[in-house]
Amino acid sequence: MIKIDNKIENVLAEYHQRIEAEDILVQTLSHEERNQRLNEFLLPVGEEVGMFINNLAKSANSNTILEIGTSYGYSTIWLAEAAKANGGKVITLEISPEKAAYARQKAEDAGLAEFIDFRVGDAIESITNATETFDFVLVDVWKELYLPCFDLFFPKLKTGAWVLADNMIFPPHSLPEAIAYRNRIRETNAFDTVLMPIGSGIEVSFLK
Ligand SMILES: C[S@@+](CC[C@H](N)C(=O)[O-])C[C@H]1O[C@@H](n2cnc3c(N)ncnc32)[C@H](O)[C@@H]1O
Repeated sequence: MIKIDNKIENVLAEYHQRIEAEDILVQTLSHEERNQRLNEFLLPVGEEVGMFINNLAKSANSNTILEIGTSYGYSTIWLAEAAKANGGKVITLEISPEKAAYARQKAEDAGLAEFIDFRVGDAIESITNATETFDFVLVDVWKELYLPCFDLFFPKLKTGAWVLADNMIFPPHSLPEAIAYRNRIRETNAFDTVLMPIGSGIEVSFLK
């Protein structure tokens, strides 16, 4: 574990407990039951990816970080810890007000709320209306939104931006969208890009 503030460590430990309990519960559910209850679950990037995005954002000194898909705020904590170190902020997008409220409370508990701008609503609308340019983006929303979101934030990236997209390997039913996203990134000829087999598989792309 990297060296981080106690309050943040405690909040991450609470998330890790909830993740473990959900992993056990999900194994007892049928595919249909899991889908019906999907909004109850954190659906987190996981600790390995969390640590990776935190370290990458810090070493790149990224200060305007866009997260597409807050959920209950697990990845947001890792990104906000980097934003705090960099003197920047995370703009995080979530359609569910209940999830965003939970994420905000956890960010307050961690002492990170002032580094996060929670934008509740449809990501497509939020990206369209955003006036910022970004130097780090985490794409972790429903998979059919990866391409439309990419096309909207691409013109708002700074040179040298990092773009990371989750679920490139797992779950298998998202593979067609994952492949379409990876092809789209390559078609632009604007990025150095690589698939990293950590967590659920992340595409890590650097805007040249
Ligand atoms: C995989 S989860 C994000 C997990 C989070 N990044 C983490 O690691 O803790 C995807 C989230 O995208 C949200 N979402 C789905 N459609 C959306 C939309 N059109 N606009 C904004 N958020 C959306 C879902 O409600 C869900 O919470």
